[in-house]
Amino acid sequence: MTDNAISHLFEKNRQWAWQTTEQDPNFFKVLSMQQNPEYLWIGCADSRVPANEIVGLLPGELFVHRNVANMVVHTDHNCLSVLQYAVEVLKVKHIMVVGHYGCGGVKAALDGVRLGLIDNWLRHVVDAKEKFKPELDAISSYDERFARLCEVNVIEQVKNVCQTNIVLDAWEKEQDVTVHGWIYGLEDGRLRDLATSVGVQNDSVQVYQNAIKQLFA
Ligand code: CO
Repeated sequence: MTDNAISHLFEKNRQWAWQTTEQDPNFFKVLSMQQNPEYLWIGCADSRVPANEIVGLLPGELFVHRNVANMVVHTDHNCLSVLQYAVEVLKVKHIMVVGHYGCGGVKAALDGVRLGLIDNWLRHVVDAKEKFKPELDAISSYDERFARLCEVNVIEQVKNVCQTNIVLDAWEKEQDVTVHGWIYGLEDGRLRDLATSVGVQNDSVQVYQNAIKQLFA
């Protein structure tokens, strides 16, 4: 028996498995034999941004990596391993970096708050803040500055995905994989595209520069 305080989760799981099987008796049987997702989602660990639910995808349809502030750090072997497996083995067609407004990690970076070990992780967001200091300083509203940094952070991470040897090698082989940058609104549940999609046919530097220019226009 499990702890009473969380036993309701097992109850919820029983209901979910039962309902799913009611709708499709072969659902788990088919799924257990293979996974063949077309998408890799790189998102924030925030509990309010559940990947599958937001885009209405079922188990098996979305490969997911989440961390604080949806970061793609060049030396993060966890994220890179997910990326490599997704691109080279699963051969996903789309990789989306999904940020969200009101991100606590981005806010800590914006405010210069000290939280401990995580400061070192969020230092990459601080780097983005400093990179675009003139543009951000020119925005008088705090909320708007916060929103722009959330967006800039996504665009920076899309650039990082595009610069990995994994994606560069895939494009070298003309593999059909496109990287996207999206941002999610906690207040309305809507996704917004940040016009930073890059595929094998695009110049990723050009797309990056245009997306940044459009953001601060
Ligand atoms: Co967040």
